[in-house]
Amino acid sequence: MCTVRTLVVDHPIVQSRLTVMRDKDSSNAEFRAALRELATLLVYEATRKLEVRSIPVVTPVGPTDGTMIGNPPLLVPVLRAGLGMAEAAFNLLPESQMGFVGVARDEQTHEPNAYMASLPDSLAGRPVIVVDPMLATGGSLLHCLTLLASRGATDVSVICALAAPEGVRRIEESGLAALIVTASIDDGLNEDAYIVPGLGDAGDRQFGPR
Ligand code: PRP
Ligand code: URA
Repeated sequence: MCTVRTLVVDHPIVQSRLTVMRDKDSSNAEFRAALRELATLLVYEATRKLEVRSIPVVTPVGPTDGTMIGNPPLLVPVLRAGLGMAEAAFNLLPESQMGFVGVARDEQTHEPNAYMASLPDSLAGRPVIVVDPMLATGGSLLHCLTLLASRGATDVSVICALAAPEGVRRIEESGLAALIVTASIDDGLNEDAYIVPGLGDAGDRQFGPR
């Protein structure tokens, strides 16, 4: 049974920010700004079903029922490129905490090289929101989801600006559970495993080439 759900957010503001990111002539600063705004909108969509708690609140006019986030998620940017989405997610969910996973694709094999993980030992009962702009072959995300599942996470949402059908399929076939929220599922991958038409290298476009 497939336990992966995919939500493509085709809102006009989302698509306009994605277009700035796709444009090869956008500067690093323009790209980062568009990614921040896109991340805000995608996290907003991804958190519609977040558990809430009812709390009493007194307005200047009288008492009423208010709402607070019941079980704040753990936010997990995948380094490096996910860093550009982390602050936007934190701003929307200031009561959340943050963990980190570092993965870099090998340019020749396209396999992920994991170089760091800083996560709580147990994630049982805790929603997790992974942020990474790109889901290409799916290798990096599969590594991340496997790590989260090994710590007991069962409620994982993944926010990515762009996905390739090959990467979505790989996650679906893994048997792991996740909600993938993205602005687009593009045509596919080229021979270098870059998303087509894509936006290029999301890390380089934010921070400059390594
Ligand atoms: C990019 C991106 C994802 C990964 C996706 O990171 O941010 O983590 O590639 O590719 P995949 O689905 O084929 O694994 P990259 O490895 O380029 O590292 P960076 O974030 O440090 O630039
Ligand atoms: N990583 C990127 O940054 N871009 C792609 O198109 C694929 C993987």
